Amino acid sequence: MIAADLDFKGWMSAVQARIEHVLEACLPSNEHIPARLHQAMRYAVLDGGKRVRPLLVFAAGELVGADPARLDHAAAAVELIHAYSLVHDDMPPMDNDVLRRGKPTVHVQYDEATALLAGDALQTAAFDALSGHVLTDDPREQLKMINLLAKASGSLGMCGGQGVDLYSVGKALNLPELELMHILKTGALIRASVLLGAHCGTSPGAEQLARLDHAAKCVGLAFQVVDDILDCEADSATLGKTAGKDAANDKPTYVSLLGLAAAKEKAAELQAQAHAALDTFGAPASRLKQVADFIVARRS
Ligand code: IPE
Ligand code: IPE
Ligand code: MG
Ligand code: MG
Ligand code: MG
Repeated sequence: MIAADLDFKGWMSAVQARIEHVLEACLPSNEHIPARLHQAMRYAVLDGGKRVRPLLVFAAGELVGADPARLDHAAAAVELIHAYSLVHDDMPPMDNDVLRRGKPTVHVQYDEATALLAGDALQTAAFDALSGHVLTDDPREQLKMINLLAKASGSLGMCGGQGVDLYSVGKALNLPELELMHILKTGALIRASVLLGAHCGTSPGAEQLARLDHAAKCVGLAFQVVDDILDCEADSATLGKTAGKDAANDKPTYVSLLGLAAAKEKAAELQAQAHAALDTFGAPASRLKQVADFIVARRS
């Protein structure tokens, strides 16, 4: 159990420590054949990252009174997809990054073929986590969860956004085009995190889910707007990844399109919109609001 009376920092540390154990248990050991692949998978997932998506799963779970033991597997699933997306995002044909979570990227530490395979295997490990345990009273709800994560990860979700990102290099996107790219490449998994958490409780109604989804959509877009800002403002040591890569790679971002000040205003606006949607749930949504605030205020 995670004590309900913890302040946000204490709660965040408790969820982060908890999910570390769950992820650890999801992944084959470093010695398991093929050892190099399993070492790369563990290297990509364990001991690093803010675990924002698990935090969202647990905060949404708290809103609906879900059993934390169920949330563990939903949170692990979405974090495994996220980790796979980072491994591939960093590879030379994509962003060609050498630093991630303060360590050499997976293809640098191992090799490109291993990074490809590790990403592939992390993706299926996510669906293993989501389908290998009973997470809902009604099995039809769990099928919906599996479908939801598949859609959020695929070409109509995160992968689709990554495609738009790749095909937009050097192009001046307009605001709706940029917004769509961000909502897909980053927002889709953030939305899935909130909805997966909500599904682990007693079956949520369609209207309740729609309100939560609206809040999550704002948080997901805010997340990537802040990522764009930090790429431009923060240093590599703080970020644990190479700063200034968006400009160097000629990527369209909120900063390149609007400038830093307007990008910051946009993030604050989205935060306010998320709060307004969450206000309708009253006190049970307070953790989700805190996670939304953390996402906008973070410095890495
Ligand atoms: C980085 O995500 C990639 C984006 C989707 C912008 P995070 O900032 O959540 O990365 P970690 O998991 O904390 O390393
Ligand atoms: C990546 O966006 C989003 C993913 C789906 C991985 P970025 O390319 O901006 O993420 P960082 O800045 O490398 O973490
Ligand atoms: Mg990228
Ligand atoms: Mg990148
Ligand atoms: Mg970025």
